[in-house]
Formats: sequence, structure tokens, C-alpha cells
Amino acid sequence: MSNATSRRNVGRRLVRLDGAPKVRGEAAYLGDRDVPGLLHGAVLRSPHPHALIRRLDTRRASAMPGVRAVITAADVPETRYGIYIKDATAFARDRTHFAGEAVAAVAADTVEAARAAVAAIEVDYEPLPGVFDPEAALRDDAPLVHPEWEQYEAAAILVRRGNRSTRGIIRHGNVEEGFAKSFRIFEHRFTTSKVHAGYTEPRGSIGFWHDDGSCTVWSSTQLPFAVQELLADAVGLPPAKVRVVATTLGGGFGGKLAIGVEHHAVLLARAAKAPVKVVSTVEEELTSALPRQPAIVDIKVGVDRDGLILAKQGRILLDTGAFSGSGPQTASSCTNTLHGPYNIPNVLLEGVSVYTNNMNTGAFRAPSGPIGNFASESQMDIIADSLGIDPLELRLRNIFHDGDKGPSGATLAAVGLEECLRRAADAIGWNDRKPANGRGKGIACGWWMTTGMTSEVDVTLYRDGHVLMNSGAVEIGTGALTGAAQVLADGLGVEAERVTVIGGDTGASPFDYGAQGSRTAFCVGNACRDAAVEMRKALAAVAAPRLGVAPDAIELRDGAVHGGGQSLPFATLVGADGLKVRGTFTAPAVPHDASRLENHQSPAWHAPSFHAHAVDLSVDEDTGDVTVHRYVVAQDVGFAINPTYVEGQIEGGAVQGIGQALFEEIVSRDGIVQNPNLTDYKMPTMQDVPVIETILVQHPTAHGPAGAKGVGEPPCIEPPATIANAIAVATSARVQTLPITAERICAARGQIER
Ligand code: MOS
Repeated sequence: MSNATSRRNVGRRLVRLDGAPKVRGEAAYLGDRDVPGLLHGAVLRSPHPHALIRRLDTRRASAMPGVRAVITAADVPETRYGIYIKDATAFARDRTHFAGEAVAAVAADTVEAARAAVAAIEVDYEPLPGVFDPEAALRDDAPLVHPEWEQYEAAAILVRRGNRSTRGIIRHGNVEEGFAKSFRIFEHRFTTSKVHAGYTEPRGSIGFWHDDGSCTVWSSTQLPFAVQELLADAVGLPPAKVRVVATTLGGGFGGKLAIGVEHHAVLLARAAKAPVKVVSTVEEELTSALPRQPAIVDIKVGVDRDGLILAKQGRILLDTGAFSGSGPQTASSCTNTLHGPYNIPNVLLEGVSVYTNNMNTGAFRAPSGPIGNFASESQMDIIADSLGIDPLELRLRNIFHDGDKGPSGATLAAVGLEECLRRAADAIGWNDRKPANGRGKGIACGWWMTTGMTSEVDVTLYRDGHVLMNSGAVEIGTGALTGAAQVLADGLGVEAERVTVIGGDTGASPFDYGAQGSRTAFCVGNACRDAAVEMRKALAAVAAPRLGVAPDAIELRDGAVHGGGQSLPFATLVGADGLKVRGTFTAPAVPHDASRLENHQSPAWHAPSFHAHAVDLSVDEDTGDVTVHRYVVAQDVGFAINPTYVEGQIEGGAVQGIGQALFEEIVSRDGIVQNPNLTDYKMPTMQDVPVIETILVQHPTAHGPAGAKGVGEPPCIEPPATIANAIAVATSARVQTLPITAERICAARGQIER
């Protein structure tokens, strides 16, 4: 690409374009929205994890004051939806699969009236035996969560069998030979918990049903285009009749990739002939949202005398709960996280997703990242201790460098991992790992993908040099679209403050794969780069002849086209309706060795990022309470398009990771959530975390805008292992289960029995 553009915007700490209305409280989130005649919906949910519905009577509820519609499975099309497997329905039909599954819904004049009517719906359930242990669910004699699983439409790559929704494998070399040559072999099991994405805005939606049989939904979603597809299936319409408009979003973190309340809002709107708002309650968020899958990780590693890894074998078993959700894809990506950022000649890694009658699950920031990393990086410290090698040194001996091949055989470039490790270690004061009794420092490292796929932007340049950027991606709170606007502004030679970003509307925005997978600044930014090239061409076609220069010789700067020592302001080249172009980016496939993969959906990572975390903490001698004194993240971000928001992502992600490490778990007993509130489900507050110290490492990727890699997901990957490793230094207790509660630390120290 010719590059006659100035580089004034990228790298700047520009104030985010969406910031002012948010801090002033003016931005309208879904819950703030109102329309004439708006009704309010509430959902009846199954109290039983597995039961037959023998009788369902809505007559009493329908007759209650203010009630406008009551609907059940009998009132809606018999269709199924799902991202990889169409296994879900809007309402349970005859059978419930988890405690929390929707059974009926009510639209009423007020939320209170809707809830009162929900309570008046009569249901007779016949409880059935459930399966709650993912290992038990894999056995041939396990009760089937979906007896009709074979009839479900599913992605062709999946290998389903009974309760197993798929598995993905990466295999190369020969692990048996690797183990045979090993000086020592280490085998461990780690388990991780079900954690909620913790967005500040609950999932919400307003559904509209139109006279022509189409629908519109306003949704607090990360992915309007994915919701369009899922919703079309869930309500039995072709996608063309479904319009999804994303509203100002109060965080997503992966928990808002799929539909949650949209189908209920739309189906209620159809039945009530009025718009209906449905917003999740906190209890619904913690019993029927889409938290991260809990997992069981088995891992076996063989090393030589110097600690070089010779073979690695392992399996991550993901309990997706009653529906597969994102699990079938995570079952592939998890092999990469379990592999870790190391050169390993012999590898056999498997990810398995399995149905149980537990609460359903979905994606959460770096799906599988903290799961695989907790296991792999905890074990690295166990190996280091056992061989008498410093854990930092053990990592440095094994890590990826430029030109190495990843697990699927893809050649790695722009690998800033050694710099991350060294700088994180220096910052935490690694030469003094155990400064006092009960105090210790830990380190862990990892890698993560930048998701590719397609992004398009429609860009209009106006006569006054202002720019309108319409993107189907949603600003989920990261600032990523401000970053993309900075890239666009550089390409057009204007100040980024002149760019207005709109979009997130499937009816009015060009396609975008969406704000997920750390891809927004990368992919939308690349589409912006393309749009700038197109705009340059369009301007050159008019301006170059007038300037008497070749089209390639023009330069865009300061709201004008320059060339041959003269300049033409945009106003003289652009009509009153502006000049419109479309920019497109589709990430190219990453070359890899397909013979290493079986049923794998995440074969080679696009522009992977690399990172190292370090912590200094204390553990109370009596109570096992952990105090985190300092927390350092060194992350190779490629290039920081806007350092302020890159740092913000790292700080927030690390805090979310500390929550997963120490506090958070949706506790289920026999399929019933025990802590469906934010008192007993404990997320970290400012009291629980120190200032997160960020170190931006910048090894630019050739594929990203200005060299940027995906930033958003990685920082929540390493905290569990980093903290587990520091606790082991501080106390000699190794906890292999998340979260690492005070109770588990005391049990590992032998102070209490569990
Ligand atoms: Mo993410 S878990 O791709 O928002």
C-alpha cells in the first residue's frame, strides 16, 4: 500500500470518542430506553435441573391485572438455535435441561405485574435423574441431557456422541517416544470454576414486532450480526426479517455474544402486539446467563535434565452445562492455551466439551485462556522447583522466539515474549522471590490469538473535513473503535476528533464479525486502513488531474489534497452529500500443518500476542487470606494505537483475572446454583486489588494496523497461575483448584481438612 499518509493519530492518548456522554451519564443504555406503549417482560424458569413438564397452566397468570401476554413453548415456533449446535429452544418443551431454563414468559404493564404473573403460572414437574459431573457425563451409561441429540443440526467439523458435543485435537511428534526419553515426567490435574463475565449492565433487550411479520430488536449485545442469525432461528424468521440494533453497551466480556433475552422480548412483542423490554435480574445472570465453562484439566509433561520440555499430553474437559453454547469452539482453542508459548517436539492435546444438567455456559474473555494457562503455568513452577531451576529461567529455556513454529505448525513472528518475561521479572524484583515468611512472588506467561474474520466500514468524507464512520462492530467499552478511528484519521490526513462513529445496526451498517476475540481495533482498524486507500483513490481521481500529478503522488493532509506544490481543500472536491467509500478487511488464513489437527476449529492463531505477569503477595499465616501487594503485566501489544485504553484493557483484564484466581465461582450442588447473588458470588472491588502496573511491549505484527495485535482478552489469562505460583512460594502450599480461596490454602497447608 502506498503510504503518503501522516502518522499523527495512532500512538496518541486521544480521549475516547464515546467517552463524554458516558461520563456525563447521558449515554442511553438498554435499561434507560423507553418507547410509547412499552411493556415489560419477565421469565419463568425451571427450578429443576432435569424434569419432565407434566402440566403447564397459564390461565390464572393471564387473568392478572396488567398482564398483556403469557407465552410458553406451545405458543412459539418449534425451532432450535445455537452457535455450533442448534440444541436450544426459546422455552423448554416437555423437558427441562437445567435449573434456570426458560419455561414461560409474561408481558405486562409493569415489571412488578409481569413478575407477579410469572409466580402465578402453574407447572407440574416430574424430576428426572440428572448428570452433573462432566466425567460421569462421558460414560456410556450416563443419562442423556439431549436424548434427541442426533437430530440436531450441527457444524460439520464436530464429532458428537451422546453427551459429548465435540472434541478437538492437536497432535505432532510422538508423545510416547518423548516420555520415554524424558528425565522426569510430571502428571497433574487442575480444576477451574464457572465464572460470570461480570459486565456492569445486565443483558437487556426491547423487542418490536412489525405488521409485515418482521421484527426489530434493540439489544445490549457485542455481536448484532450473530444475534440476528441466532434470533432468526429462535423465533422462526428468515434473517432478512430480523433487524438487530446494538445499544450503548455496559461491557460484554464474551457474555453477550449469543442471545439471552432477545428472543423472549421479540416473542412477547408478537403476542402482546406492543414493544416489550426484558432485562435480566442479578439472579438470572447467575443462574441462566452464559458464564465461562468450568473445567477439569489433566496434563502430563516430560522434561530433560535441563528442563527442556520433550513431550506434553493433556486434556481439557469443559462442562458446557445443558447447552453447548460456545463450548464446541472452546474445545479447540483450549488445546493452544494448554500447549502454552513453548517449543515442544511431541504433543498430544485434546479439548472436549460435554453436556451436563448444570447451568449453561458460553464465552468469557479469552475462552479457555485462564483454564489452560492455570494448569500449564502452575505445572511449570512445579517442574522448576522439582528440578531446582528458577521458574523464570525454566520458561526462558523453553519459550517461543521469532521463526519458531506453534503447535499447529504455523510460523511465529513478532514474538515479544522474552522481553515480556524479563521486564515483568525486573519490575517485580525477581531476584528476591521470598522477601519474608508468608510472602512470595510469582510469574507466569502465555499467548493468545487475535481473531480474524471480516470487518467492513462505510466511510463518508464531508466537505468540511469531518468524517462519518459506520461500523457493524459495537463499542463494548474497550475504546477499540476510537483506535480504529485513529487509524482512519491518519489515512485521511485529518484529526481523529473529526471522526464520528456510528453503527451496530444490522439494517444500516456493513457487516462486522463483531466485538469479540480481541479483534475490534485490529480488524476494524485494518478495514479503516482499506477505506482510507479507497478514499485516496476516489479523491485522486478528481484531484490529480487538477493538480497535474499522477494519482499516486497525492497526499492527504489538513483537510486537503496536496500534490505538485499545490493543494485542493476537500470542499472543492467533495459534493454536499460527501464522498463515500467502503473499507473491507478479511483476515487471510494462517498457513499451518493441517495433518496436526483433528476436528479442530482454531487451528492457527492470527497475529498472536504474548504476555507475562508477575505478582508480589502475602498469605495470612492463620486465616489463609491473600493480600496482593503489587501486580505487574508486561504485554506484547504489537503497537499501542492508543496507550491509555490499551493500559485500561490490561488493568481491567488483570483485575478480572485476579477475581478468577481468588474469589469467583458459581457454586452448583446437583445442578442448583448456591450463590445467585453478588454478596455470595464475590467479584473483586478496589479493596481487593492493587494498582495494576502495565508495561507495554511492542513487537509490531506485519498484519495489524500500525502493527497492533489484539489486546483485550489476554490480560485475564495469566492471573490465576501467577497468583497460584506466588502462593506456593509464600506458603509452600500448592492449590490446584480455582478459585484459590483462603479455605483451600488452609487445606493445602494441612491446617484444616476438606
Ligand atoms: Mo470474547 S469471549 O470473544 O468477547
